[in-house]
Amino acid sequence: MDQNESVINTGLRGVKVASTKISNVDGAKGKLVYRGYCAKDLAPEATFEEVVYLLLYERLPDQSELKSFRTKLSEERNLPQEILQALQTRPETSLPMDILQCAVPMLAHHDPHIQNTTKETAIQTAIKLIAKLPTIVAAWEQIRNGKTPIDPDPSLNHAANFLYMMTGDPPDEETARFFDVCLVLHAEHSFNASTFSARQVASTTAHMYASITAAIGSLSGALHGGANTRVMKMLIQIGSPENVEGYITKELKAGNKIMGLGHAVYKVDDPRALILAPMSKKVGEKTGETKWYEISTLLEKKGKEAFKKHKSMDIFVNVDFYSASLFYSMGIPLDLFTPVFAISRISGWCAHVLEEQFAEAAPKAVLYRPESEYIGEYCGPDECSFISIEDR
Ligand SMILES: CC(C)(COP(=O)(O)OP(=O)(O)OC[C@H]1O[C@@H](n2cnc3c(N)ncnc32)[C@H](O)[C@@H]1OP(=O)(O)O)[C@@H](O)C(=O)NCCC(=O)NCCS
Repeated sequence: MDQNESVINTGLRGVKVASTKISNVDGAKGKLVYRGYCAKDLAPEATFEEVVYLLLYERLPDQSELKSFRTKLSEERNLPQEILQALQTRPETSLPMDILQCAVPMLAHHDPHIQNTTKETAIQTAIKLIAKLPTIVAAWEQIRNGKTPIDPDPSLNHAANFLYMMTGDPPDEETARFFDVCLVLHAEHSFNASTFSARQVASTTAHMYASITAAIGSLSGALHGGANTRVMKMLIQIGSPENVEGYITKELKAGNKIMGLGHAVYKVDDPRALILAPMSKKVGEKTGETKWYEISTLLEKKGKEAFKKHKSMDIFVNVDFYSASLFYSMGIPLDLFTPVFAISRISGWCAHVLEEQFAEAAPKAVLYRPESEYIGEYCGPDECSFISIEDR
């Protein structure tokens, strides 16, 4: 196999396409690091707003910086009336990720600074988008259910405000904090598909809105953002802990995947899953429905045993395994799991767009332009001669 052949049809796995200072995933050790800090250390200590600041400004904020950053985010949460009106005209069957993907370019239409290409303007655009994405998701949830969108509540933080706008009820303190932790844990994950989409568009010097729109499209795919919805559908299908073993045997025999197990990078349990699992248990206990957590833990145990026995390999839980039951127990509708992922991951996407376009240190980013191998045909040894339409 020559060098060219080795990069064809591999989905760029193992190919380093850029340098980044934003995050690192160590799959062997099960470590996820945001700008030098372990996500597992940030999760219990930092709020999502602090992590967004860290990702955008490359350092943790002090108290007064965090206070004004929180204020800025909460001031930017409202959507232009024209966008709310446009959402009202969408068929109620529209997919929530499609709604997000069409609403972001509409925000660009309302941005008077759209032609300004400075780093400071790009940061301000990032803040606007991070603030407004939850409002779009929550407004769509209200509109498709025939209700009026709920205005953001400036007294609530980012996490609590989203749950409030989605349901109409402010969440209790513990649920709000758990959701905050979920946002922290989903904020960034190096060069996954959607982040690469954002960076690739940013490398053309397109604006932040265009890059984020591309990332949302990428995240909407079942192989990327849709996995935790599929985990929850699986838990619902299993229905009860006594069905777990039979389910595993049947699925493995049929050669099917068990959702939420395995990862392209982690070769140990995903560090995020280890934090999400106890939260899933607690929220289940709070709502009086512990079944989803119980099925999940048994599925993890029996799934790991079955892989060892039948495939002679170890398998590990990924982030989607416990976020599914956690989100479900929090009352988040199944088809909003991926949009919820987006309202967190947008912080990472924006940091990557900034790095792609404004990194000060060498090596500077360049326009992505990979090559492909032409495997189409010629008409014999030379190119085809054009035949006019009457003669074909
Ligand atoms: C994420 C995923 C695509 C990674 O796949 P991968 O890179 O091929 O993983 P590995 O190389 O470790 O897989 C080794 C073997 O285990 C199998 N395997 C991996 N995850 C599996 C799963 N969840 N269920 C059944 N078999 C699985 C693979 O098919 C492969 O089998 P083979 O050697 O017979 O072909 C895969 O684990 C998967 O599809 N998981 C379920 C979906 C999911 O939860 N996605 C969210 C990821 S965050």
